[in-house]
Amino acid sequence: MVLYFSATGNTKLIAKKLAEHLGDESFDLLQRIKNRDYSSLHSDHPFVICSPVYVSELPSFFSEYLRKVSLTGCREVYGILTDGGYAGIAGAQLGRIIRQKGMNFKGYAEFKLPSNHITNRSHAEIEEAEITKRIDASLNKVEDVANEIRRGGFFKNRHIFLLEYLVTVPVAPVLCYVNQTTNGFWTKESCISCGKCARLCPLNIIEIRDGKPVWKEPRCAHCMSCIQNCPVEAIEYKDITEGRRRYTAP
Ligand SMILES: Cc1cc2nc3c(=O)[nH]c(=O)nc-3n(C[C@H](O)[C@H](O)[C@H](O)COP(=O)(O)O)c2cc1C
Ligand code: SF4
Ligand code: SF4
Repeated sequence: MVLYFSATGNTKLIAKKLAEHLGDESFDLLQRIKNRDYSSLHSDHPFVICSPVYVSELPSFFSEYLRKVSLTGCREVYGILTDGGYAGIAGAQLGRIIRQKGMNFKGYAEFKLPSNHITNRSHAEIEEAEITKRIDASLNKVEDVANEIRRGGFFKNRHIFLLEYLVTVPVAPVLCYVNQTTNGFWTKESCISCGKCARLCPLNIIEIRDGKPVWKEPRCAHCMSCIQNCPVEAIEYKDITEGRRRYTAP
């Protein structure tokens, strides 16, 4: 069973293609994460857990979900990470969570895709040609990854240096605390009150009041789902996102 969380479609694209190649089912965890539903998921085939990388780690709400959910049946687990080019310590984190569940972690495959981090000032807008190149290269890689999983092999992962842990573990939470605020989100008149942003928020912190989204908590995961998926591009963040092209995977 291929399990995934995806805010802007990169991880979903890979998860769906992988499931297709494996002849297995894919399962979108969004509703389970939103509802804090940790009821068991069963698979007779290896679990394949697919996640984006946030600030060199797994999204914290996703690691919390994985720690708490009960996975029954097959004891083998593979990881899939999608990112803009640097997975940091996310794969090692996933491995630790899986081993703590008493399951057998068989490594992870990494897919470099367009970064969706539009609220980050240093986020560089990627050319259309580069977007296509990354997506094509990732789709070409899916079959090899599926074959390895079917064979029951291990993914050989790069060594994660001590320095990467020493920097990421203390710094990532501080960066998230400082940058991932919600008071920077604002909505333009063009909002059509469709409620999609509220439905997609994995943390359930958006409420539609008087036809407009309201962010109920001071901080969130900055997953980019609301701002990137709004059908009329009505959500902005500070003065950073105006005029920037929105991105969701094909
Ligand atoms: C808050 C946040 C932090 C991110 N941090 C990283 C990172 O550390 N390294 C990286 O390569 N990409 C990073 N990205 C880019 C995403 O990992 C990448 O675009 C991913 O494929 C998005 O997956 P999705 O479309 O399934 O949501 C970050 C994106 C967000 C929103
Ligand atoms: S998704 Fe966009 S249009 Fe729909 S309610 Fe949210 S801000 Fe408004
Ligand atoms: S408010 Fe928007 S960016 Fe923040 S967690 Fe919810 S959907 Fe993601």
